[in-house]
Amino acid sequence: MANNDLNDDFKGPRTYVELLKEILSPEFETHTTREQSKVEKNVLELCKVKKPLLSRNRHISYLKKSITHLSKNYEALDCSRPWICYWTLHSLELLGERLDDDLCSNVVQFLNKCQSPTGGFGGGPGQDAHLASTYAAVNALCVIGSREAYNIIDRQKTYEFLKSLRTDEGSFHMHVNGEMDIRGVYCALAVAKLLNIYTPELFKDTEKWVAKCQTWEGGFAGCPGMEAHGGYSFCGLASLVMLNKSTVFNLSAFIRWIVNKQMRLEGGFQGRTNKLVDGCYSFWQGGAFPLINSILAAESKTKNLEAYWMFDQKALQEYLLICCQDPFGGMLDKPGKNSDIYHTCYCLSGLSVAQNSPEKVIIEPSEVNAVEVTHPVYNIVFETAMKAIKYFSSLPLPEK
Ligand code: FPP
Ligand code: ZN
Repeated sequence: MANNDLNDDFKGPRTYVELLKEILSPEFETHTTREQSKVEKNVLELCKVKKPLLSRNRHISYLKKSITHLSKNYEALDCSRPWICYWTLHSLELLGERLDDDLCSNVVQFLNKCQSPTGGFGGGPGQDAHLASTYAAVNALCVIGSREAYNIIDRQKTYEFLKSLRTDEGSFHMHVNGEMDIRGVYCALAVAKLLNIYTPELFKDTEKWVAKCQTWEGGFAGCPGMEAHGGYSFCGLASLVMLNKSTVFNLSAFIRWIVNKQMRLEGGFQGRTNKLVDGCYSFWQGGAFPLINSILAAESKTKNLEAYWMFDQKALQEYLLICCQDPFGGMLDKPGKNSDIYHTCYCLSGLSVAQNSPEKVIIEPSEVNAVEVTHPVYNIVFETAMKAIKYFSSLPLPEK
């Protein structure tokens, strides 16, 4: 419930019992319930007129245009340019498409300009290194997957950059003297694991700090004491999976929280309690299910993943295909919003999870709707992640 919900509807002093009666009545309205009703109405309208069909070619054209030309609406992303590369390249790969080799090479050379002389990647050429840009740049380079792409990464300096961001507790700052939250842990781990620069000392006690971010609701927050949220929950869970430390947190509480984040009418996910559905949570929340399945499968030493069906795979695909596609290409948060490349990336990633976890369930016609399988830890196509891991594991560990 938003903070000012009750103030919006202030009707003069009432007794506690009167107030309770009113709140518990099914007609009780607040700003939050009105916004929720509007979304539900829009979704129901679209369901009457649209079929769940993936507009693959429109999205491909939209994405290919974005890699060289973006509108001025993207000005605020000038400090997040490696993200633009990653969202675009990964979305294309999920759709079974890639840029031609010359363009890929241009992207590699651009990302090289974003690499800092002291390690890590900044948001643009000459900008200070940042952990989120570093994660995005490494993912983008792994998607490109050429020797040129792999070899521009200075692994030793990246290791030193990660080390410079570690706190005594095992958490990570996002940049030197910058904020510290659970995204830092996830980005540092993903980069370290992909590039084979993971060392136990770099992540000593990290799992204990991550466990402290689990809230009373069951999801993870950005920092201990804050609110559980889908984005941070993905970071927390994926981090514990990478650390192979899935016993340090309360898995049942996490499952209870996350299964309740799929919206009963919309089929998509909300990021936190009492908030609205948003297409990007199809991955941030949806991506947690294959991770949960891997933990449960390891615990019970069985491969019978069907036993762990925990969300409605078809309902999520319907939300994405009916409500989140812009007819001119690109995907979006919810009906009425504009498409953008962030939402295109995470809607398609969520579609991939919905089609493959725990079983392959693709809304027909599957030849129209199927996308590639994403790796739920790194969020790059599964085989692409495995190819990068194989390449970097043949290189020596960094000097400590
Ligand atoms: C709330 O936005 C959003 C957050 C509190 C943070 C979201 C975090 C992520 C998406 C994860 C980022 C991960 C990496 C790897 C960098 P809001 O209040 O606009 O949305 P809401 O109403 O849906 O909660
Ligand atoms: Zn969103």
